[in-house]
Amino acid sequence: MYLSRFLSIHALWVTVSSVMQPYPLVWGHYDLCKTQIYTEEGKVWDYMACQPESTDMTKYLKVKLDPPDITCGDPPETFCAMGNPYMCNNECDASTPELAHPPELMFDFEGRHPSTFWQSATWKEYPKPLQVNITLSWSKTIELTDNIVITFESGRPDQMILEKSLDYGRTWQPYQYYATDCLDAFHMDPKSVKDLSQHTVLEIICTEEYSTGYTTNSKIIHFEIKDRFAFFAGPRLRNMASLYGQLDTTKKLRDFFTVTDLRIRLLRPAVGEIFVDELHLARYFYAISDIKVRGRCKCNLHATVCVYDNSKLTCECEHNTTGPDCGKCKKNYQGRPWSPGSYLPIPKGTANTCIPSISSIGNPPKFNRIWPNISSLEVSNPKQANVCDNELLHCQNGGTCHNNVRCLCPAAYTGILCEKLRCEEAGSCGSDSGQGAPPHGSPALLLLTTLLGSASPLVF
Ligand SMILES: *[C@@H]1O[C@H](CO)[C@@H](O)[C@H](O)[C@H]1NC(C)=O
Ligand SMILES: *[C@@H]1O[C@H](CO)[C@@H](O)[C@H](O)[C@H]1NC(C)=O
Ligand SMILES: *[C@@H]1O[C@H](CO)[C@@H](O)[C@H](O)[C@H]1NC(C)=O
Repeated sequence: MYLSRFLSIHALWVTVSSVMQPYPLVWGHYDLCKTQIYTEEGKVWDYMACQPESTDMTKYLKVKLDPPDITCGDPPETFCAMGNPYMCNNECDASTPELAHPPELMFDFEGRHPSTFWQSATWKEYPKPLQVNITLSWSKTIELTDNIVITFESGRPDQMILEKSLDYGRTWQPYQYYATDCLDAFHMDPKSVKDLSQHTVLEIICTEEYSTGYTTNSKIIHFEIKDRFAFFAGPRLRNMASLYGQLDTTKKLRDFFTVTDLRIRLLRPAVGEIFVDELHLARYFYAISDIKVRGRCKCNLHATVCVYDNSKLTCECEHNTTGPDCGKCKKNYQGRPWSPGSYLPIPKGTANTCIPSISSIGNPPKFNRIWPNISSLEVSNPKQANVCDNELLHCQNGGTCHNNVRCLCPAAYTGILCEKLRCEEAGSCGSDSGQGAPPHGSPALLLLTTLLGSASPLVF
């Protein structure tokens, strides 16, 4: 069972996506971790930043409901028809498959009629609040790549909070508030994602866009990932180069789209009127037919394959990195501090491979780092795809922004924005230069930093 569902789905998706590319892929795919190239010395490996293809992440999650016995049907109960509050003889019975509405039905295939859905018990205990937490856990950091979409079968809730965790459910932060009246429910002014900008993209908002109860036909709630991407990549996400540049250099932005868990907090069901109809409390409940979460395993740009084995997602790390997220260097490959791969320079990025520990080098292996020819990069509209001199980012320490895609740094500096001292990266700034770093001027170190210093500046 090693070759997982994920692998086969991954392969399938690659095939499909290469047939129907929705946008011009001027910014590259990051779908290869290494490639063989020919040089004067023969074939050598060239290493590149790489990441798994974006996929349907609902296949790999665990769902947990709180309170645990909130699903309807145990004991059997009757509820009112959706959309017809005076037909109250529908039945939910957990022990009869045709009448049961377990949580799995939020993640099964939709498109059938009638649709299948999870349903909560009704609001029998009004005025005690009817609240449900639906927690989705991956036990793995994942990066969201598309809108989270929740389709309700009942009316959309009057109050709801989407929360996220980045530490496997230990701490939670709100992601977005939803209410028919934001001020009343959460003391927040209502906003829409369209009111945000590059500068305020990380703001947590309360939206009233998705909370009309029975009165409209729309049953869908979004958490808008793509609209937020569009602040950097432009409408229709044509300039992913620009987005990737920002993600590379702004950890907060990257973390915003990264989660290990999501929690849907249903706080008040759709009432649709000002008053709750206390004679027909079986009108009020939650029902969800579908939840969509698209994303990819976070592998720090060191893997294209994420394996689902034993109900667990793990990156298959390359570049001599290891760990569930490729978050550290393998044993004997700790010749310099671990660092994530980089989306820049576009289109192939920088692998930032782990290199052999100094003590384990007899004869330094032959590595070759071939820099892409920046002037030949396909940036369709250089002004829009600007990644090194824009509203948020500028080259630092006297670096100059070359063709809008990469800072050219003065000799002493390195990093995407020339923000780091070169010697810092090599661990050779002070006299006590730390573990694993050889004395100044060691030929091995000089060789390695010149050949492998993947974040080092281009010299023209
Ligand atoms: C839902 O989770 C929140 C924390 O995210 C907690 O404060 C609240 O009590 C939970 N509600 C239920 C009904 O379990
Ligand atoms: C990782 O180490 C192996 C030897 O264990 C070597 O063959 C390979 O080229 C290394 N890969 C990278 C990306 O450094
Ligand atoms: C880089 O590409 C440009 C345009 O394709 C070409 O004119 C130039 O000679 C190349 N430079 C190098 C160093 O290969």
